[in-house]
Amino acid sequence: MFLARLERHFPNLLSKLHDLYGGHYDFFFHAQKLVVLLATNFASRKRKWKNLDEKRLANPQWYRSEKMLGMAVYVDLFAGDLNALHAKIPYLKSLGINYLHLMPLYKSPEGDSDGGYAVSDYRKVDQRLGNEKDLVRLADALSSEGISLVLDFVFNHTSDEHHWAIEARKGNPEFEDFYYFFTDEKEVQEYNQTCREIFPTVRRGSFSYLEDVEKWVWTTFNSFQWDLNYSNPAVFNAITDEMLFLANIGCEGLRLDALAFIWKEKWTQCESLPKAHTLIQCFNACLQIVAPAVLFKSEAIVHPDDVAEYISDEECQLSYNPLMMALMWESLATRDTKLLTASLKKSFTIAPEASWVNYIRCHDDIGWTFDDAVASDLGIDGFEHRRFLNQFYTGKFDGSFSQGVPFQENPSTGDCRVCGSLASLAGLEKAIELDDAEQIEHALKRVRLLNSVMLSIGGVPLIYQGDELGILNDHSYLSDEFKREDSRWVNRPAITDDAMARALEGIGYQNRIHSDLKQMIALRQADTVFGAAQTEILETYRPHLFAYVRKHDNDDRLLVICNFSEHPQTLPASICDCLGGGQVVDLLSEAHVDATELELNAYDVMWLKVKQVN
Ligand code: GLC
Ligand code: GLC
Repeated sequence: MFLARLERHFPNLLSKLHDLYGGHYDFFFHAQKLVVLLATNFASRKRKWKNLDEKRLANPQWYRSEKMLGMAVYVDLFAGDLNALHAKIPYLKSLGINYLHLMPLYKSPEGDSDGGYAVSDYRKVDQRLGNEKDLVRLADALSSEGISLVLDFVFNHTSDEHHWAIEARKGNPEFEDFYYFFTDEKEVQEYNQTCREIFPTVRRGSFSYLEDVEKWVWTTFNSFQWDLNYSNPAVFNAITDEMLFLANIGCEGLRLDALAFIWKEKWTQCESLPKAHTLIQCFNACLQIVAPAVLFKSEAIVHPDDVAEYISDEECQLSYNPLMMALMWESLATRDTKLLTASLKKSFTIAPEASWVNYIRCHDDIGWTFDDAVASDLGIDGFEHRRFLNQFYTGKFDGSFSQGVPFQENPSTGDCRVCGSLASLAGLEKAIELDDAEQIEHALKRVRLLNSVMLSIGGVPLIYQGDELGILNDHSYLSDEFKREDSRWVNRPAITDDAMARALEGIGYQNRIHSDLKQMIALRQADTVFGAAQTEILETYRPHLFAYVRKHDNDDRLLVICNFSEHPQTLPASICDCLGGGQVVDLLSEAHVDATELELNAYDVMWLKVKQVN
């Protein structure tokens, strides 16, 4: 089996590696070493996962099913530790979850580790969460419950405590070549001229000075996260070995963290360069040989045209959909759906074999990564609009319902991002403070509206821990010296038994959010039109409405209409003609559409289908 796969994928892999490393005198030495490590990892792959490989290869589009539903959780915040997570499996199943992303759980520095995104050893589990055996046991348990495990592949950088970094710092030349070191500050400044600053409140530029060795090291993110030097073929091999180790734990998805940054060239932005794509294709080819059940998920939070470049069968089969995420929030703020409609008309369609991972919130900030050209065609100035959105979502704009927190305000560019939980950003926190029943109702309906799009527009919906329970912002990070500077912790709350009980036991607004969500999940998972179907974004000619139709190969159709404003809206019922005729019914309210006009109340949603007559 190994030889057959090698024969099929290696020529392509070798030619791509040649594009990257052909100029190295020892190119074939590294290529040969790669084959050995692929073979070794194949040999140690458990029979169970090899069977899964065969199963997935026989049904390669399995992840496009309407049954797919994801959740992202921090092991400690959600359950305590890896062993305690077993007891949460029934809860996950009761929600319909079958894709579980465990936030980085690897050994990382004590104190600040960027929420685990500074990895000191890919093969060791953070001891606060358990050990390697516990992880394997959990992977087995999830798999036997039909839940696909997704892990982070943090491959742009390691922590400065990784043994490669420690050796490099000592001056071991083999490992010095694993990172980017500079002795000349002029060179550092030259790179800084063209690179985007990611964490400008932590440190300006993309480099950190190491006093002890009198060198600069490339650090796109925090100073303790050292960027790996992929122009060195030894780094490609070493990281491939780590990647296959993770695959062999039994995960079915790897989240490619910060993948836009992995290739650097002077006088460029050092983001999304062509060779970054070649590199990812090489990693993908290695997986096809050793562990083809494993999918790549792209975490490219960049311009929508660049996001699209990572999505294909030979690169990432899955991708976060940051454009839709950001623009749903944009539409809620403006009550105007024109930017959402125009942007998704341009960018929603991707290769049919690939799938979006649709989300509303995640552990990070919200960046307003829409296409300024699309905005400009609509008379929207991108820069001013982002400023407005930041003001709105941090509650500084008069009349805003939202209570988010700013993140990484850049004094030179005026750029900023926003943090906060789904419920708080949607207005629930403020409405509760004001004790305003109408505002509470609006906030709950905004949450439902966003969830309804995430669940119905096509792709894998990914719920972020706590958002299904209506959890509000958590300001406790401010009293932790290692977290206080990083406001993303405001949306990383611990999921307490109390919060869960309130949502599950029919009490108050948390229960509303939870039961609204469960109703929609049940509808989604019962109907193939929510799965592998095509989406067409519709023009409603109504400024506050957003609509799309989904078409399944079996001719089944679904029409979704959403009102992004608190004022009632109407729309001619003739829009239902796209369903092909017959008695139209709203799956959510079970009401029949008989009138000539559709009426949508504040933040209402309709999931319209032609009623089946048996
Ligand atoms: C990703 C993570 C983010 C982290 C960064 C650096 O974007 O989502 O949390 O800070 O990468 O690893
Ligand atoms: C930037 C990066 C993204 C990362 C985020 C963390 O947006 O593009 O990869 O998640 O910063 O804040």
